[in-house]
Amino acid sequence: MIVIGAGRVGTALAARAPEHGLSCTLIDRESGWDALSGPQGDPIVVAVRNPDLADVVRATPQHRRDDLVFLQNGMIRETLAELGVARATRGLLYFAVPSRGAPVQPGRTSWFSGPHGLAVARWLGTMGLVSRDVDWARFSFYELEKVSWLVAHGLLCTVHDCTVGEVAERHADTLLALSRELGVIGRCAHGVDVDPEYLRDKLVDYSRSVPEWRASVKAWDWRDGWFQRQAARHGVETPVHRELLRAAGFSDRLAQP
Ligand SMILES: NC(=O)c1ccc[n+]([C@@H]2O[C@H](COP(=O)([O-])OP(=O)(O)OC[C@H]3O[C@@H](n4cnc5c(N)ncnc54)[C@H](OP(=O)(O)O)[C@@H]3O)[C@@H](O)[C@H]2O)c1
Repeated sequence: MIVIGAGRVGTALAARAPEHGLSCTLIDRESGWDALSGPQGDPIVVAVRNPDLADVVRATPQHRRDDLVFLQNGMIRETLAELGVARATRGLLYFAVPSRGAPVQPGRTSWFSGPHGLAVARWLGTMGLVSRDVDWARFSFYELEKVSWLVAHGLLCTVHDCTVGEVAERHADTLLALSRELGVIGRCAHGVDVDPEYLRDKLVDYSRSVPEWRASVKAWDWRDGWFQRQAARHGVETPVHRELLRAAGFSDRLAQP
């Protein structure tokens, strides 16, 4: 497997692969790019942050772009479409790597969809990281679920200065109220119909698997900013999300209602 991005995720996967008899070529900013000169066909896992996607796609030879596998959190569909890679494989990681050089903290099942979904799911599965390849509709649900987890916990961990495990135990009511708003946006803007209690329970379940994680508000355009844009576009009220943004110190980023 080829992985682009020698950060937390890339470094952890490159260290874990050989422990399970698997190969992994890690590409960083300066080195390893010649690994992409081979023929089309083998997956290339992209483990960089969202703002760096454009540089990576542009640096990837045209004939290898359909081999890219995007692991980024957040609503990245529009970004990928603008970069001409909308049909590439996507992944949602349900494990955590807290710092560069730290091992993977296994969480729940990671989800993949697209041409290389099965290959990457098997690669991670062989390393003991439970993963599954699913159809696009199912992936869309998990995409909403993951971004909801990140938005809800980014805000609640910041406001209450606590871990995601503490959010799960102490703030389940707020999580449910937020899940209602996120669920409405999911239906209007993402074509996913989800019961808010089910969504809340899934969020709590993942938090219990990585209870020490401290989430934060980041990758604005692909998380909280995306929800605000969709709420405005579809005329949906999101008072809980807006109040949490205020309490977390993001009043200056609140869209006009
Ligand atoms: N960490 C987690 O637990 C976790 C869990 C699930 C999903 N994710 C997702 O996985 C992605 C990577 O996360 P991360 O935590 O590994 O981020 P990270 O620690 O910031 O690592 C990103 C790496 O990408 C490198 N990079 C940036 N632009 C590049 C380019 N043009 N060419 C080559 N390398 C480039 C960076 O290099 P420099 O160091 O030189 O800047 C950095 O080493 C993110 O989208 C994140 O949302 C992470």
